[in-house]
Amino acid sequence: MIMEKIASLPEKVTKRATQRCIARACGEGYDLSERICVCPRCGGPLEVEIRVDRSIDPGALRGLWKSRAASEHPRDLSGVWRYRELLPFDDSVPIVTLFEGNTPLYDAPRCAEYSGLSQLRLKHQGCNPTGSFKDTGMTVAVTHALRVGARTAVCASTGNTSASLAAYSARAGLQCLILVPRGQITAAKLAQSMDYGAIVCEIGGNFDDCMRLVQDLGEEPSIYVANSINPFRIEGQKTVAFELMEQCGWRVPDHVVVPGGNLGNSTAFGKGFAEMLALGLVDRMPKLSVIQAEGSAPFARLFAGLKRSRSANEAAMPKELTPQGNPQTLATAIKIGAPVSWKKSLRAVVRSGGEVTAVSEQEIADAKAMIGRDGIGCEPASATTIAGIRKLVAAGHIRPNESVIAVLTGHLLKDPDYVSNYHRGTLSMPPDADGNRSGQAIAGAFRNVPEQAAASKSAVLELLRRRA
Ligand code: F0G
Repeated sequence: MIMEKIASLPEKVTKRATQRCIARACGEGYDLSERICVCPRCGGPLEVEIRVDRSIDPGALRGLWKSRAASEHPRDLSGVWRYRELLPFDDSVPIVTLFEGNTPLYDAPRCAEYSGLSQLRLKHQGCNPTGSFKDTGMTVAVTHALRVGARTAVCASTGNTSASLAAYSARAGLQCLILVPRGQITAAKLAQSMDYGAIVCEIGGNFDDCMRLVQDLGEEPSIYVANSINPFRIEGQKTVAFELMEQCGWRVPDHVVVPGGNLGNSTAFGKGFAEMLALGLVDRMPKLSVIQAEGSAPFARLFAGLKRSRSANEAAMPKELTPQGNPQTLATAIKIGAPVSWKKSLRAVVRSGGEVTAVSEQEIADAKAMIGRDGIGCEPASATTIAGIRKLVAAGHIRPNESVIAVLTGHLLKDPDYVSNYHRGTLSMPPDADGNRSGQAIAGAFRNVPEQAAASKSAVLELLRRRA
């Protein structure tokens, strides 16, 4: 009976997709073939609206998705396209995939104890083909870019978006231009983009300057903007919420916590959960919280202001976010002062009853080392989650027995210098033009310094005794 239902499901899932402006006063719709990133009518943010037949049986859809995990079909090997009933393209559209997604969900007992929780799980998006969560969005965006006949794909980046776009563009045979702030992204990330054949353009400015330039370039008809302002990126990234729920046996966690930079990831989680709720795949939303680095926290400041004025509700959304002029953090992935997707992200956080907060450089560094103690590596930006969870537990927003998922966004090898400096005790804020925080030392509270020993058995055994 179930098999019959599953077999007949694809025909029953009829869907229609439109690009729609989310501004309440506008709501204009556009065809999927339009290459736009903001509403041409009012300048508001766009999202892809998927209208799925609501009579769809959630159990059958879950069964179909699960059955694909054992399939060898290229569309099923991708942990994004496996959920294609809720993606904007049908099976006739050629996809650009590196078999992204399918990332592990780990138990992290040491992080749980460190955070004051009885249990904590880590969804490791760093286990994607280019080492970050960006791949889940890029497969859909680059598929769309080919569909609309783009010749060049462009992005501004703190390093991961660019590595991902470079790789997917190479697969697609698209010209790729990446704009990165000179001297502010890690060597590993830059190396990836060079290796994947992108035109790497180092800009004398910060990420926000690069982002402004990308928006200008996007006005050229042949240029395709692949930053998360592009709603097709969000479509791919939202599938991480579907995969997470499958891994949780469809039991909704109480909290999902993500780092916040340009705010596409939190937007995507919010959209994924909202769609699952509408289809009856889940019965409630987890509280979605976003963590920023203190030196790059315009969104956390906005949220704190809303809470003070008690207007953190959907009906009273602010019109503006005050950008941070000179953002600073060693978690370079999230060194962003003017996040483009703040409106969509704020809506998702407020709807879910989540929080936005900021953590210090020391808190990020120690949380990262604690994740390492669980045998799991990540880059600094990802560790804001554990630092933030610890803070939210202490503040009573997360209760010790609640179920919590932290989303790790990037691989440890994205920034090995940071890790090495932390353990050797040489990590500090770099000098900056304004002298703010310049040279501020970060203590390696959980240091693991390499030992020196002579090339003799007795010397090494002595070392083991000392460290026992
Ligand atoms: N974590 C990592 C490792 C990232 O690379 C980013 C963003 C974020 C978190 C924040 O996610 O922007 O969706 O809120 N990196 C972008 C880039 C900006 O260019 O690679 P977000």
